[in-house]
Amino acid sequence: MKLVSGVWQPDCMPALSLLALVLCGGLGARALNNGLAMTPTMGWLHWERFMCNTDCQEEPDSCISEKLFMQMADLMASDGWKAVGYEYLCIDDCWMAPQRDSEGRLQADPKRFPRGISGLANYVHSKGLKLGIYADVGNKTCAGFPGSFGYYDIDAKTFADWGVDLLKFDGCYCDSVKLLEDGYKYMSLALNKTGRSIVYSCEWPLYMWPFRKPNYTEIRQYCNHWRNFYDVSDSWESIKSILGWTSSNQESIVPVAGPGGWNDPDTLVIGNFGLSWNQQITQMALWAIMASPLLMSNDLRHISPQAKALLQDKDVIAINQDPLGKQGYQFRKEDNFELWERPLSHSAWAVAMVNLQDTGGPRSYTISIASLGWGMACIPDCVVTQILPVKKKLGFYEWTSSLKMQVNPTGTVLLRLNTS
Ligand code: GAL
Repeated sequence: MKLVSGVWQPDCMPALSLLALVLCGGLGARALNNGLAMTPTMGWLHWERFMCNTDCQEEPDSCISEKLFMQMADLMASDGWKAVGYEYLCIDDCWMAPQRDSEGRLQADPKRFPRGISGLANYVHSKGLKLGIYADVGNKTCAGFPGSFGYYDIDAKTFADWGVDLLKFDGCYCDSVKLLEDGYKYMSLALNKTGRSIVYSCEWPLYMWPFRKPNYTEIRQYCNHWRNFYDVSDSWESIKSILGWTSSNQESIVPVAGPGGWNDPDTLVIGNFGLSWNQQITQMALWAIMASPLLMSNDLRHISPQAKALLQDKDVIAINQDPLGKQGYQFRKEDNFELWERPLSHSAWAVAMVNLQDTGGPRSYTISIASLGWGMACIPDCVVTQILPVKKKLGFYEWTSSLKMQVNPTGTVLLRLNTS
């Protein structure tokens, strides 16, 4: 391995040297303590909706270009998104030019980003928003653009110089698990070293799982959030698979989530094409229960008032952003119903009842209040409010009473229980 003008040359880099480098850098004992993401990150990320469309000739309105991000920034500021908390406007893959510059720095595609990322960052900041960017721990990004392997320090510095506020760090084209782990750790330290506050969004566990169970305690020490499972797509199958994976692995992943570090089930696809209204409600409700980052991937220029109202629902967002910062979990599954709950600050609880049956009409489910929150959600009584699908005060419930709800097929009823 050679260090040439601050750049680690990748092809001849033995794993051991990188580890040594990383250890010398103080890895291991140090935890990620950047003071960021004390509640789950909220914002917008281009990937699911706009993917890797680089053809601005044919599709000027949906290609990955500064115009797209500037339009989204305008709307985030003017249409109430920023006001309810959506703050980070995030670029995903395919923003780069195919080559680094003569000094080894990443550069944005000059045709699609004529003002460069720093120019875009200035614009985004002028709207009171923050800018996120994307890079990859390996030799290439998933879409084949230059990877950061061998360039972690220089890339961290470049992003900081540009005024970037969040880095999504993907895990494609990484030659070994060891390099993957070391790379994610190294980039965390490199970002910290820049002195700029940059939220660090990892995909480390997703790329670890095929090899071995990730060490979540360690991941939390380096990342502000981390993807565990496959990419979301605009379909109910995808939402169900993410919920299924999350509940099957909740014993490993729920305890580790908390202020500063969150499990990331990928973006909200509400406002797109593939989910029915009830399924959109389910995604919003469950992303709130799971204390997930709320990063939308949709087109804010064309979104129905209904989807907008759901995404901007302050009561759902309050559950997602609850300062206690404990992730919810599934606590019962029977008769094609799933019940999830999440402890909130001031001894409140959020409860979600999901009807997974996709035939027939609304089905009712009755739950005894005493079975919620380990028996402690409602002592001696509480006030129950239905948040979704529509807001409704359900009134006082005693610990000994029960609650009967009607839930639409593939829909969810989201409740909030406040101690009285
Ligand atoms: C995937 C990643 C997606 C998106 C895509 C870009 O690996 O999980 O979220 O970033 O790469 O190529």
